[in-house]
Amino acid sequence: MLTSFGQLPSLGDESRRLLHGRGGNFEGLEHVAIDWFAPVLLVTLYAAKENNAELVAELVEFSQRRSEITALVLQERHLPKGPKRIVYGELPPEPVATESGLNYHLALDRNQNHGFFLDMKPGRDWIRANASGKRILNLFAYTCSLSVAAIAGGAEAVINLDMASRALATGRKNHQLNFEPDLCKRASYLSHDLFKSWGRLVRGAPYDLIVIDPPSNQGKSFKAEKDYPKILHRLPELLTDDSQILACLNAPHLDESFLADLFRDYQSQGRVSCAPGFEDRYPAAALKCFLFTTPSMT
Ligand SMILES: C[S@@+](CC[C@H](N)C(=O)[O-])C[C@H]1O[C@@H](n2cnc3c(N)ncnc32)[C@H](O)[C@@H]1O
Repeated sequence: MLTSFGQLPSLGDESRRLLHGRGGNFEGLEHVAIDWFAPVLLVTLYAAKENNAELVAELVEFSQRRSEITALVLQERHLPKGPKRIVYGELPPEPVATESGLNYHLALDRNQNHGFFLDMKPGRDWIRANASGKRILNLFAYTCSLSVAAIAGGAEAVINLDMASRALATGRKNHQLNFEPDLCKRASYLSHDLFKSWGRLVRGAPYDLIVIDPPSNQGKSFKAEKDYPKILHRLPELLTDDSQILACLNAPHLDESFLADLFRDYQSQGRVSCAPGFEDRYPAAALKCFLFTTPSMT
């Protein structure tokens, strides 16, 4: 089933997606994702299919043949809580994702998300290249990968907001993993619901760059159609005349016209490219990150 996969050259150190079935380019594997976090292969199944057992057996065999793979972790997202289990080998004591010389803690032994979104690589690259000297507000920060990239790029300060205190705790550790204490002090953490924290954010304004990377739909916490417009309503209170906004949308059911419409009063500076390995037959369904600048003053 994975004939071309078996031919892969050395996997190297850089974390990346090896197979993006959901992008629709691999017939019969639409429910599969395979990620490489050296020395661990992570296989995610999004549906119960007849070919799953055969696929996992093939990947175990592949892992046994490759000395750089020391563990194969299987996550079954189609089951309640998305359980993970080791189906071959042993995990390293502190698994990490490695990208462009930076490291990020991974939770490969816990259910649900493992802590690092590979498809945000172009966003991290962009922010690292454009952060120098800036005060940055990172909304929906999760484990703060964008903050780590920003500080590596010379950001003066990054304020990370997320309602999940556990994710922010990993975010703090991600800074400690990469930087000396002096640089770690450039990051701060607000563990709050965004919609109950506007006063605090306004008191800290203005920001040179604001990142908005919400979930598409997370229970009562966030629903793109209803809650993204609320952010836009309050955004002007946080901006200077030349602030930048990196606005992201990870909702396959909403295409880029959703963001274009929300930001119609802003100046669009274009879309950040799609991450390598995440090519999608329907680009509108992939993660969308757009850059905007403040409304024209004319
Ligand atoms: C897509 S993840 C962000 C990924 C992150 N930007 C990155 O690149 O790793 C979405 C995050 O939004 C947070 N979240 C959802 N609703 C929220 C709300 N109302 N206020 C604050 N954080 C919220 C979740 O806890 C989750 O960590």
